[in-house]
Amino acid sequence: MCGVIGYIGPRNATPILIEGLRALEYRGYDSAGVFVAGRGALKRSGKVSELADAIPEDFTGTCGIAHTRWATHGAPTETNAHPHCDPTGTVWIIHNGIIENYADIKAALEKDGVIFKSETDTEVLAALIGKKYTEGVLLEDAVCGALKEVRGTYGLAAASVREPEKLVAARLSSPVMLGIGKDEYYIASDASAILKHTRDVIYLEDGEVATLTREGYEISTLSRTPLDKKVETLEWDVESAQKKGYDHFMMKEMMEIPETIENTLRGRLLPKEGDVKLGGLRDVLPQIRSAKRIMITACGSASYAGRVGELLLEEFAGIPVEVELGSELRYRRHTMDPKETVLLAISQSGETLDTIEAIREAKRHGVLTLGVVNVVGSSIARETTAGVYNHAGPEISVASTKAVISQMTVLALISILLGRQNGLSSTDGEHLVSELQKLPDLARTILSRRESIQAIAKKYAKVQNAFFLGRKFQCPIAYEGAIKLKEIAYIHAEGYAAGEMKHGPIALIEPSFLSVVLVPDDSMYEKSKSNIQEIRARGGTVIAITTDGKEDDLKGLADDVISVPNVHEALLPILTTIPVQLFAYYVALERGLNIDMPRNLAKSVTVE
Ligand code: F6R
Repeated sequence: MCGVIGYIGPRNATPILIEGLRALEYRGYDSAGVFVAGRGALKRSGKVSELADAIPEDFTGTCGIAHTRWATHGAPTETNAHPHCDPTGTVWIIHNGIIENYADIKAALEKDGVIFKSETDTEVLAALIGKKYTEGVLLEDAVCGALKEVRGTYGLAAASVREPEKLVAARLSSPVMLGIGKDEYYIASDASAILKHTRDVIYLEDGEVATLTREGYEISTLSRTPLDKKVETLEWDVESAQKKGYDHFMMKEMMEIPETIENTLRGRLLPKEGDVKLGGLRDVLPQIRSAKRIMITACGSASYAGRVGELLLEEFAGIPVEVELGSELRYRRHTMDPKETVLLAISQSGETLDTIEAIREAKRHGVLTLGVVNVVGSSIARETTAGVYNHAGPEISVASTKAVISQMTVLALISILLGRQNGLSSTDGEHLVSELQKLPDLARTILSRRESIQAIAKKYAKVQNAFFLGRKFQCPIAYEGAIKLKEIAYIHAEGYAAGEMKHGPIALIEPSFLSVVLVPDDSMYEKSKSNIQEIRARGGTVIAITTDGKEDDLKGLADDVISVPNVHEALLPILTTIPVQLFAYYVALERGLNIDMPRNLAKSVTVE
């Protein structure tokens, strides 16, 4: 979603800000704007390239802020794009998040005679800061004064015409980091915007404010108590955040799946003991072990990884698991006994607000919270008590691919770890560990067969409706296949437990309705095969995704067959996810769509 970048230093800020916006494009946006001290503001609805083209040569300066906006209050127009200023044009701000009480503040300011140009909550905040920014008041004090009156969320950067060599940043539930360069400083909502310039960062926490000048930076609370914060080093490099010759980040990231699994497993397997070690969980292991229930919370594809985790944890660790969407958990009446329940949150970005709020709800109940997170230092990584990092590297494509695979891999590791403590035999542990070790090569084999998946995708690129069906371990992968086809190929698709077909959905089957059935050679093979028969008997079209050795058995039955190598049934979801993601990619490619940035979507969903 929206992106924030700010720069202050000896160099020309404009190209740095525009380049930063380009690096933030993947998050999803619909308009962009920039303010450079001494030059003013420029905004455009549409692409960053349109903004860049509109910038005159003399639009230079050494201090500025820039923003990509994903519309929440008001349409994605030039007027609503950020930066916004106060009525006198003195204070300029860019803002991620939502000011919940903006209507009340707006009404009060209107009574004072303020006339607003845009429909945004951000302009209201700019006006409020402007009101506090009377003569003699410093920008940082005006920002703090205004933020004390605000309810909602913000990742904010402010600049001022009166103090042109200063930037102020603030955070509440929307990420903000400071980049520390050599005699220059950055503000960013996402590391990718500043990776090219520095890997030294300071993460702002909720309620913290930073003041940046050419001489350095100061961080304080909203009440202006000074804080001493640690500078941390980002793990990722610029290389890993680029396309490396692929047409799309999504393809590049799927091609990285084997390496991702290797990175997720690295240093965590104990093959001889048939066990696993996860340093991030060491201190809380006794508490997790004694839990009577694990609640997994996540959104979208991460929640489907969570459903695989549910089956793995119940199967190997014997702990009852419940998966609840982040957006639902906090609104439900539930019994979260801190002695019995552990909450495990799964998130690639670590910034998904629904998931964060679910964690906060669990914390209010005193429940131990754990994170399975990819972005180091992200909000979820910091808000949970303990956890396991994915080590999947940056994921830029809006549709999550390698991160989902690594989430399932981490959940397999946690299941073995808890399983071995709860009675899983060393022989079973050894077998699972050795099967896990095979996954990177098996994933390579699937990717080497991608052309055959592309040919099948071409054949079905014009379908308008599709079911994805699977049982047991493959049921969450049916959900994953459907979400991917929906989000990047814009095809109506439903993921179903295959056994549910006969309870209603089968009424939809006719020749143009595609069913992709996950039917690997596992304990559900015969049952899933029967589902294919039922669909065929009603004239439906079927693609079967199976495992090597079963192709011939299914060829006469399904219209097309995709096959993946075999592995332990419980780990197969990690492999069958790859063809469903590839299928969606190739269908979207055939339909000529914007694969990395599908319409209406954002990479990091930081609003509720
Ligand atoms: C689907 C997809 C989304 C995310 C979801 C959670 O391809 O990318 O459904 O999985 O928005 O995002 P994170 O994992 O960042 O919390």
